[in-house]
This record gives sequence, structure tokens and C-alpha cells, in this order.
Amino acid sequence: MIQIRVGPTAAPHYVTAMTPEPTFTDAEIDALVETFYARVRRHHRLGPIFEQAVGEHGWPEHMATLKRFWAGVLQGAGTYKGSPMAVHQRVEGLTEGLFTPWLNLFHATCVELFDAPRAAVVGQKAERIARSLKLGLYFRPEAMA
Ligand code: HEM
Repeated sequence: MIQIRVGPTAAPHYVTAMTPEPTFTDAEIDALVETFYARVRRHHRLGPIFEQAVGEHGWPEHMATLKRFWAGVLQGAGTYKGSPMAVHQRVEGLTEGLFTPWLNLFHATCVELFDAPRAAVVGQKAERIARSLKLGLYFRPEAMA
């Protein structure tokens, strides 16, 4: 499939326009979600937020939701039906500054699991979603006046 991407990309636009979108297997998505969230839970700032919101017993369901979400993003599968914006609005202790460690941990995981071009594709998708979440959660037009 030919896709012209708008906005920041790891490769120049003429390269992304010629390169087919990489594919990701279910096993790769499982590995991404499991590895990343195991690290998130151990992170000194992110971990406590997840433990409070998800709780000790909520993890199997949360992981299943996240796998459906990433299958939607990376495979175009339509099985995720949630609303990340609404969910994050209710997350206690979430701040704009926490998106940087979240993204750093995510990129480090992608680089370990995937070759560089595929890690860049997943990382860019996460960056875009994080940007729209941050805009939705924290952008206040009246503060610009
Ligand atoms: C500072 C960064 C972030 C923190 C601390 C955070 C925290 C959380 C927490 C605590 C939950 C569980 C909420 C609950 O079940 O009550 C959650 C859900 C979720 N998060 Fe994040 N998040 C962050 C960034 C992101 C980003 C950048 C993405 C996507 C690229 C993302 C995707 C999701 C998804 C898909 C869910 C599940 C939503 C649902 O239940 O339908 N999060 N997040």
C-alpha cells in the first residue's frame, strides 16, 4: 500500500511513499505490549500510576485491551472499541511531563524488539497518538491569549 505521510517521519517523504508499510504479527504485538508494560510497572514514576488505576487484579484485562489497541494501530484490526482520550482523562496523577518517560521507554522497547525501520514506524505512531492525547488533555486555547 502506498502511503504519503504528513508530519515528522524518520525517513524523507519520498522514501516512505515508496516503501510498503511493514507488517506486524500477533506474536510481535504480544511481545511489544508484554515487554513494554512489564517495564512501565517497574518504572519509578509511571509504575505507581498504573498500579493505582489498573490494580493488582486488573492487568490481564488491561493487557488484552492494549493488545487489541496495538493490533488496530499496526494491523488495521478493528477489535479495539475504546476511547483512550476519555480513559486518560480519568487517570489520577497523569501529567504532561510523564509522556516523555513513557515515550522513552516505548522507543527503547521497540528498538530492542524490531529492526530499525520497523521500530521507527511503531515509534512514530506512538508519538502521534501521544501528541493527540496531550493536545486533548492539556491544550487550553484561552491560555494562548
Ligand atoms: C504519561 C503517559 C501515559 C500514562 C501515565 C498512561 C496511563 C494509563 C493508565 C493508568 C491506563 C489505565 C486506565 C484505566 O484502566 O483506568 C491507560 C490506558 C490506556 N493507555 Fe495510557 N498512559 C499514557 C500514555 C499513553 C499513550 C502515549 C498511549 C498510546 C500510544 C496510551 C494508550 C493507552 C490505551 C490504549 C489504554 C486503554 C484504554 C481503554 O481502556 O480502552 N497511553 N493508560
